[in-house]
Amino acid sequence: MLTLHDIAELRAHLTPYRRDGQRIALVPTMGNLHAGHLALIDAARRDADVVVATIFVNPLQFGEGEDFERYPRTLDTDTQALASHGCDIIFAPSADTLYPQGHAHLTQVSVPQVSEGLCSANRPGHFTGVATVVSLLFHLVQPDIAYFGRKDYQQLTVIRKMVADLHFPIDIVGVPTQRAEDGLALSSRNGYLSATERQRAPALYRILCQVRDALQSDTTPASALREGLASLAAEGFKPDYLELRRAQDMGPVAVDTRETILLAAAHLGTTRLIDNLPVSLPH
Ligand code: PAF
Repeated sequence: MLTLHDIAELRAHLTPYRRDGQRIALVPTMGNLHAGHLALIDAARRDADVVVATIFVNPLQFGEGEDFERYPRTLDTDTQALASHGCDIIFAPSADTLYPQGHAHLTQVSVPQVSEGLCSANRPGHFTGVATVVSLLFHLVQPDIAYFGRKDYQQLTVIRKMVADLHFPIDIVGVPTQRAEDGLALSSRNGYLSATERQRAPALYRILCQVRDALQSDTTPASALREGLASLAAEGFKPDYLELRRAQDMGPVAVDTRETILLAAAHLGTTRLIDNLPVSLPH
């Protein structure tokens, strides 16, 4: 496995694979890898000839006062984990390499509609930062296929729309959320939780399951969501949102919508957790 930091080197290593018609997979990450990321690598390893993982803590997608500075940088342990899961190339550029002119006046990719609301309400500009760096990585790696976790469902929907709108010839795969035994969705940010918060954190998933079950019975969405928000508050969370959207494009749920996605973001102490569950509404 190679670790590269430089764009010219990355291109030089990928050109022969592309010339030989090999299928290239990309797994974009910000590092501090856990089993959720490694499931993306495993899926890529099964589907492609060459697996490229990128590690870059992207300043563009962090707002003021967020955790950009303290986001864990763990390249050595990430490298070991990626090697043991059969990754071929790690691309770990510096911010100066990706944004040599800085990012104040950078060309940006913004994806309307699906980027609005939900996480954007409290993290304005976040998805423009994500779409910009992901499109930059797509241009540099030119993968045939790319993998993203379904835990970040709004992000996955933003990437899918960007790929469709800009005609990137890339298949996007959403990989199911990996969970701890107690149900907590794996996330790099779980490491910020204190021991007590870590014990409480699985309540987010538990409450999502309760709301899903209520939605699949006779409870109206408005009352199921209201009860869910109350349960989150009772468990010590400060919810940003608990919403039901159309699964396919995150549009509003209409009377004839069946396949939906229930999404939540909530703070536990200083840590912001997100999670979601698919819900098939009854006829
Ligand atoms: O999901 C993440 O880790 C990041 O948002 C991504 C897709 C690597 C872009 O920086």
